[in-house]
Amino acid sequence: MNTYFYEVFENIPRQGPGNNSSSRGAFQRIEKDLPAQPEILDIGCGKGVQTIQLAKLSEANITAVDNHRVFLDALKVAAVKAGYDNRIHPVNSDMTKMNFQTLFDLIWSEGAVFIIGIKEGLKQWKKYLKPCGFMVLTDLFWLTDTRPDELTRYLEEKCLYVLTVDEAIREAETQGYLCIDHFTLPLEGWTTEYFHPQKKVIRQLRKKYAGNKEAMDTFDALEYENKMFLKYHDYFGYEFLILRKHNQSQ
Ligand SMILES: C[S@@+](CC[C@H](N)C(=O)[O-])C[C@H]1O[C@@H](n2cnc3c(N)ncnc32)[C@H](O)[C@@H]1O
Repeated sequence: MNTYFYEVFENIPRQGPGNNSSSRGAFQRIEKDLPAQPEILDIGCGKGVQTIQLAKLSEANITAVDNHRVFLDALKVAAVKAGYDNRIHPVNSDMTKMNFQTLFDLIWSEGAVFIIGIKEGLKQWKKYLKPCGFMVLTDLFWLTDTRPDELTRYLEEKCLYVLTVDEAIREAETQGYLCIDHFTLPLEGWTTEYFHPQKKVIRQLRKKYAGNKEAMDTFDALEYENKMFLKYHDYFGYEFLILRKHNQSQ
């Protein structure tokens, strides 16, 4: 990922597909089983739209991890503006090298587990959860049994090894989690919340970097990714997985 890629994402509200009503829906499925002031770890938080949403929905203390400082700085500003800076703690860390001494009631990660792969995320992050703690993830999954060739080739070229939702749930169960619920992120979580702001920023950046081939290639690749999703969104999409760690699982 180069500087032009980061410039796009620094200038849009969300760094991945999502929407507040889906984050809220996922949180509401587990909130009755959380303590009054839960400890939450938000991994790959980006500029933290979902972090702020979680703070709004609860009295939680939220540790928000990302490895891109500009995103964390934006989250700090947003947290102060929303009055949650006493409960939101941004941490600049690689998600594979986190080293927390305390355990969390809930791990939340929207659109970021793909960075280490869902199997590895389930494995590595479990040690930060209290017994019976929750994990809420979104990731890209096949939604049907049909695999269009063009899409399969595209995902392979991007080294994205996409599971079906059932395969992911089986993997989670094998690793000591129970699947409480799951649901698909609606289309507007991709379009209104993610592609549309991206398109606007890319239009401006194409003017700023006119004649710069590396910049244009970056923007072309992002727009191609968006086009592929719009063409094939019946076949694949983001799924919220709402998991709970077994009491005895380490
Ligand atoms: C697709 S974005 C999702 C951001 C945010 N959760 C959202 O939905 O808007 C993935 C995030 O993971 C962060 N990231 C990438 N590699 C990382 C790593 N190795 N450790 C921690 N964060 C990482 C990126 O900086 C980015 O903010």
